[in-house]
Amino acid sequence: MKKISLLLCLGIFLLPAVNSPAADISISEASSECIDCHASVHPGIVKDWQNSRHANIAPQDAMAVEGPARKVSSKNVPDNLKGTVVGCAECHMQRPEAHADTFEHNGYEIHVVVSPKDCSTCHSQEDEQYSKNLMANAYDNLAENKLYQKLQRSIIGTKKRSKGRIICGPADEATKAEACYYCHGTKLKVVGQETRDTEAAGELEFPVIEGWPNQGVGRVNLDGSLGSCSACHTRHAFSIEMARKPDTCKECHVGPDVPAFKVYAASKHGNIYSAMHKSWDFSAVPWTIGKDFTAPTCAVCHVSLLVNGDEEVVSERTHQMNNRLPWRIFGLVYAHPHPQSPDTSIIRNKDGQPLPTSLDGTIAVEFLIDPKEQDTRRKSMQAACLNCHDSSWVKGHWQRFENTIQKTNGDILIATSIMGDIWQGGYADLETNPFDEAIEKKWTDTWQFYANTIRFASAMGGGGDYVVYANGRYHLTQAVLEMNDWLNLRKKFDPSKSKGIKQ
Ligand code: HEC
Ligand code: HEC
Ligand code: HEC
Ligand code: HEC
Ligand code: HEC
Ligand code: HEC
Ligand code: HEC
Ligand code: HEC
Repeated sequence: MKKISLLLCLGIFLLPAVNSPAADISISEASSECIDCHASVHPGIVKDWQNSRHANIAPQDAMAVEGPARKVSSKNVPDNLKGTVVGCAECHMQRPEAHADTFEHNGYEIHVVVSPKDCSTCHSQEDEQYSKNLMANAYDNLAENKLYQKLQRSIIGTKKRSKGRIICGPADEATKAEACYYCHGTKLKVVGQETRDTEAAGELEFPVIEGWPNQGVGRVNLDGSLGSCSACHTRHAFSIEMARKPDTCKECHVGPDVPAFKVYAASKHGNIYSAMHKSWDFSAVPWTIGKDFTAPTCAVCHVSLLVNGDEEVVSERTHQMNNRLPWRIFGLVYAHPHPQSPDTSIIRNKDGQPLPTSLDGTIAVEFLIDPKEQDTRRKSMQAACLNCHDSSWVKGHWQRFENTIQKTNGDILIATSIMGDIWQGGYADLETNPFDEAIEKKWTDTWQFYANTIRFASAMGGGGDYVVYANGRYHLTQAVLEMNDWLNLRKKFDPSKSKGIKQ
């Protein structure tokens, strides 16, 4: 065992240094043991880790770096973790008492699910900021909202055909985990123990974890913490390069409801990225505008620490992200000022529904940010643009974008007033589930797909195909016309029901 361990250590020494001359690389005794065995059990995992910064720099050396290049944001790191590189044990053995999945494994108390709170020991700022991001709360934001649960059921529920109707019941756990909660994150739970007969180490006991595997952004972890840092920094490379590339965000921000990647890929910025990114530097920290890259990726506008040619910081890094977002352009059902709290399950509109806007378009003001805060956030987003664009370009772009928010909200008001008449006339059932009939789906499409697509393309692409023909205004207009025809036809065939309808 000792011999293999020594050879492996030498292997690590020979890796190209990824940082300034690393002092001596020492691995803790516990981690050497994990590696001895796991190098043959999981060569993929061990190699990824060996190529990572974690395998090459000990916290005490990383903490000696001052200024924007510093990667370990915690002011204090426990002494026992400072002197060795960040190995298997330094992550999988942290805070054993906090993790419900802690188990005895070849003489060590380890847990499987390394959580943001574990990373926080060395990266406290990222963890603190991320907890204020909607993403960290994405599980509860969906699972604890009664109305969104109805939407969920209408899409992924188990279907039954009964008395001429299609009924959507609750979805099963396996479907939920690979559908909505693939992105939003599952709630993990230890539900038992199992014994596996392994080739490397004979019979071993492991916890059985419900909701696992999952890398959703709001995963509820076994220490109670929220989120999965590996949503953007996959284990065991945990690289900044990957997080800065748009493909990472594409995994979740691509569908017709949230088409950020699609509109980006079809934008001028996306075009420059795909033509030129091979010559860009995605690992440099700090990231210099113009030198390391020439057009923005998702990270540049939403997350990154940016410096100009004089090494002056023009945008601070933010894992909170919404401190650069004045609006919520994802319509629920209208676009609205950004919510104050990342926990949206607490929001109630004036009609008592758990929505940030009412069906008549009134916003739930006391839960949303005020115009002053919107202005601060607008400026922090625009701080990035102004390094590559003149102020008149940015102002012109922003005016069109905010005009699009007004116009699309106006169209959704019309679609929703038709839907209101349909409910009022008794042609569809609002109470049981406002999303599960064909005509309700058509209405849902207007705000969930078309208005969203138009706003996303306006915000992040400056217009183009996605504001018109590709799930844009063309489809929105057509859906509103069809809803209107549908209502008129019903009124004609069943006039007795249309008494309550004004027009
Ligand atoms: C003597 C060999 C051996 C040693 C030493 C060892 N492991 Fe393992 N480990 C295994 C085997 C075998 C498995 C099961 C692989 C499988 O089921 O596919 C495993 C599984 C795991 C799992 C996944 C458990 C799951 O259910 O998903 C983690 C995490 C893990 N080991 C971490 C560690 C850490 C951290 C150390 C060092 C503190 C360590 N191991 C030391 C052999 C070893
Ligand atoms: C920087 C922290 C960190 C280090 C260092 C680390 N891990 Fe992990 N490991 C994680 C995280 C995080 C996950 C789970 C991914 C997630 O959050 O979804 C994980 C998951 C695993 C799993 C289960 C993954 C699977 O696909 O079954 C195994 C096995 C494992 N680690 C073994 C190791 C071994 C062996 C080492 C050392 C070579 C190591 N880890 C080093 C953070 C770490
Ligand atoms: C014990 C301290 C420690 C823990 C725990 C830890 N890290 Fe790190 N992390 C470091 C050090 C040290 C570096 C390298 C710093 C350097 O290169 O200057 C680093 C670097 C990084 C980087 C930058 C990589 C790059 O390509 O520039 C990321 C991203 C990162 N860690 C994420 C995580 C995540 C996610 C977790 C939890 C799963 C985690 N770290 C756990 C100490 C830690
Ligand atoms: C492919 C990833 C993905 C899947 C699958 C997914 N979502 Fe989402 N969801 C997102 C993203 C991304 C956002 C944020 C959109 C934005 O703000 O631009 C979001 C936001 C939401 C919100 C707003 C929550 C709030 O209050 O902030 C609701 C509601 C929602 N999704 C419902 C669902 C339902 C229901 C399902 C399953 C039928 C689902 N999602 C499946 C990625 C996904
Ligand atoms: C594993 C899925 C997943 C990945 C990967 C992902 N996101 Fe998200 N993102 C979500 C979901 C889900 C939400 C909505 C959460 C909610 O509304 O409750 C969201 C919300 C957001 C928000 C709104 C945050 C806020 O507080 O207003 C931004 C901005 C965002 N994502 C940007 C990004 C960027 C940039 C990347 C890539 C670097 C990325 N996301 C990667 C799933 C993901
Ligand atoms: C939604 C995607 C996303 C998630 C989730 C995420 N990050 Fe990041 N992270 C990024 C992006 C993008 C960057 C690059 C920022 C930049 O360019 O300045 C980054 C950068 C970092 C860095 C800086 C590395 C360096 O080289 O200076 C660290 C450390 C880090 N993240 C840790 C974490 C930790 C810890 C978590 C979990 C609490 C986490 N991240 C969750 C997207 C994410
Ligand atoms: C040129 C800068 C820029 C780029 C590049 C960019 N975005 Fe955006 N993004 C914006 C602007 C501007 C907004 C609207 C601001 C607001 O909502 O207040 C926005 C809004 C968002 C939102 C919030 C949606 C909501 O519900 O309010 C998400 C999520 C998002 N972008 C994800 C992404 C992803 C993923 C990528 C890469 C595929 C990306 N963005 C690329 C500028 C950018
Ligand atoms: C790193 C530099 C960089 C940053 C940062 C940047 N852009 Fe750009 N942007 C460019 C370049 C280069 C072009 C291509 C100009 C051309 O077509 O010649 C461009 C094109 C555009 C276009 C396309 C106009 C058209 O009609 O095709 C819009 C709109 C735009 N940017 C808006 C923004 C906004 C808004 C921001 C900030 C949220 C921003 N940009 C941030 C470099 C940048």
